[in-house]
Amino acid sequence: MTSDQQTIDVRLDSLAGADRPDARGLGELTVEQLSGRAISPGRPQPGTGKSFFLETFGCQMNVHDSEKVAGVLMERGYRSVERPDEADIVFFNTCSIREKAAQKVFSRLGVFRGAAGSGKIFGVLGCVAQQEGEEIFERAPWVSLVCGSASYRKLPELLARVESGGRRVTGLRLDTEDTFETEITRRDNPFRAYLTIIEGCDKSCTYCVVPHTRGPERSRASAAILADVRGLADLGYTEVQLLGQTVNSYRDPTARGLNFSDLLLAVAAVPGIRRVRFTTSHPMDFTRDIVSAIDSTPELCDHVHLPVQSGSDRVLCAMRRTYSRDEYLEKVSWIRAARRPISISTDIIVGFPGESDEDFADTLSLMETVGYDGVFAFKYSPRPNTDAQFMPGAIPDEEQSRRLALLQERQRQAQIARHETLVGKVFEVLVDGRHESRGQWAGRTSCNRIVNFTSSQTDLLGSYAYARVTQAGPNSMIGEQVALGIN
Ligand code: SAH
Ligand code: SF4
Ligand code: F3S
Repeated sequence: MTSDQQTIDVRLDSLAGADRPDARGLGELTVEQLSGRAISPGRPQPGTGKSFFLETFGCQMNVHDSEKVAGVLMERGYRSVERPDEADIVFFNTCSIREKAAQKVFSRLGVFRGAAGSGKIFGVLGCVAQQEGEEIFERAPWVSLVCGSASYRKLPELLARVESGGRRVTGLRLDTEDTFETEITRRDNPFRAYLTIIEGCDKSCTYCVVPHTRGPERSRASAAILADVRGLADLGYTEVQLLGQTVNSYRDPTARGLNFSDLLLAVAAVPGIRRVRFTTSHPMDFTRDIVSAIDSTPELCDHVHLPVQSGSDRVLCAMRRTYSRDEYLEKVSWIRAARRPISISTDIIVGFPGESDEDFADTLSLMETVGYDGVFAFKYSPRPNTDAQFMPGAIPDEEQSRRLALLQERQRQAQIARHETLVGKVFEVLVDGRHESRGQWAGRTSCNRIVNFTSSQTDLLGSYAYARVTQAGPNSMIGEQVALGIN
């Protein structure tokens, strides 16, 4: 399939009712039950009758890749099941970003040691597959397929080889221009549709495996993206999240030549779309026109995730992040100058090799200057195929833990204080959950804050409601529904 053909998306809640926000149990259904258009007549379906189980680790891009892989399998006639012991084929879509994440898949695979020779097929997909390659067959000989995300386009072909008895089938090439275009995508989140617009990464941060596990940057054609968004709106989605490791490095490869902010505006203009989110933005490619687009377009959510990693110029340089503290803060000042408040979240790595007390203090002071609405902080973990693994000055684990705890506590206090200033304010939330025991609905504001609120209404899932904040916590707010239109 060419990159500008339209895809068919299958929204799972259309099968089981929108009262199933976690969409569990829906995988029992086949594509034919979901959409008459989903499988064209006469298409060979060698997998018919067989079942698959797919477990996903890692980031949203992996979650979305799994939706697409599931679509490919369902197109081939496979049924998805909830438990690995019920499945003819078991896939793990893996993450390698930190050592602990990568270890997880080997402990999971170990559980199935006894299944060797049972006829059950095991496949390892994603970032550990790409990083470890054929080594996986040595460590877990019952695995017969190892495939990285840059080769997913070949997945049907690789799967056919495994089905006809292939033992060590691999898709590990990274020198690709392919993006993973699927005819069917199984959509597991009933309220928010993920859409990859750019794959791979061309940066070379010294701590990071992603350029090695996902290959070079490849942007999808804008026409294909917009056709997907229209298809999602037709399915009833009102919120889309555009995905890419460096989402704002997007460059339309076709003659239309849209840049990232042009694309944001075009996606926001699709009838039926009320909320557009995007992640992750790289500070180096974060330009002023992105802020102008958000400022002028209510459909573009007022939230930017802008990972800083460190507040120290020395560490930023050793990480090869390609911006300085001041350059980062300048971009933040553009966001702060917008007419409507835009929330900012970030990622931070503590205990990078050579990080001194002073460097760490610089990170804390940067946090205070920016006033983040959310911080995802991690202890540095040395990774294969990265330059930082050879850097001197390793920080002992206890010291990394101390810095992490201190940073997280500072951020917790900051979030409580920030949320307290919002008590009494009214927010529009997209309702995406229900806490039965507390009698509360859960939803997110455009700025990505969670509000748990009471309402006299009985069916709010998937709708937009207004809630007045009555109480503030560190990670969410409590509120009550108010009549529409009050703000
Ligand atoms: N592409 C995004 C994020 C990639 S991974 C970006 O450039 O910001 C998500 C986060 O994991 C990173 O932002 C970083 O904070 C963290 N991370 C990546 N490699 C890591 C490592 N080796 N050790 C600890 N954290 C890491
Ligand atoms: Fe990794 Fe850096 Fe690329 Fe993000 S920009 S995926 S941290 S190499
Ligand atoms: Fe993990 Fe790969 Fe995503 S390493 S964070 S699954 S890009």
